[in-house]
Amino acid sequence: MEKTPLHPRVCSHRHSFALNNPLRRLLQSPSRIVGPYIKPGDTVIDIGCGPGFFSLPMAEMVGPQGKVIAVDLQSEMLDQVSKRLSNTTAEFPLLLHQCTEDSLGLDPKVQADFILAYYLVHETPDQRGFFHGVKTHLKTDGRLLVVEPSFHVGKNDFEETVHSAEQAGLTVLDRPKKKGGMSVLLSGGRTTGP
Ligand SMILES: C[S@@+](CC[C@H](N)C(=O)[O-])C[C@H]1O[C@@H](n2cnc3c(N)ncnc32)[C@H](O)[C@@H]1O
Repeated sequence: MEKTPLHPRVCSHRHSFALNNPLRRLLQSPSRIVGPYIKPGDTVIDIGCGPGFFSLPMAEMVGPQGKVIAVDLQSEMLDQVSKRLSNTTAEFPLLLHQCTEDSLGLDPKVQADFILAYYLVHETPDQRGFFHGVKTHLKTDGRLLVVEPSFHVGKNDFEETVHSAEQAGLTVLDRPKKKGGMSVLLSGGRTTGP
């Protein structure tokens, strides 16, 4: 069957080397970027996981009692995560899930403690719809970290993104620094504090 061509705003799997290489690991350490929000036993969703730069380290952080669901539009990205999994002897609690552009398509019972949307939101066709979908899978005391690349996304566009998230019922808790781009930490409910 013919594949639907990717929209040009979506980062193709052909560029995945840029997303998973030793230099990036130096500059964007997953433990520094997401470590503060994850504890053993957590359920985590990595939306727009790409080749799994954050998914595998997050699976280590949640440990055997937790779970990470790596979600992406492109089967080729998920294949790369799968290949990396098969190259390690460690048992990672990592599930792969292919979504469509406008629906996560996860079981509604999936409720996450932490959701990551790293360099993703500007690639989605409908940000408000995206955040509505995310909210249904975030516990009320759960956290969503959105990071957007400053080299692609303008400040005003990022503020629009934050506004869309708030309109979907998410609450801004923090604007954390040093996450590798423009960042916002949100909660699934009306709680306060990072
Ligand atoms: C720039 S890459 C970032 C990958 C990863 N988060 C990282 O930081 O390495 C964006 C990823 O989001 C995926 N993507 C784009 N639109 C999406 C959507 N609507 N739902 C899920 N994934 C999407 C792309 O296929 C691509 O793998």
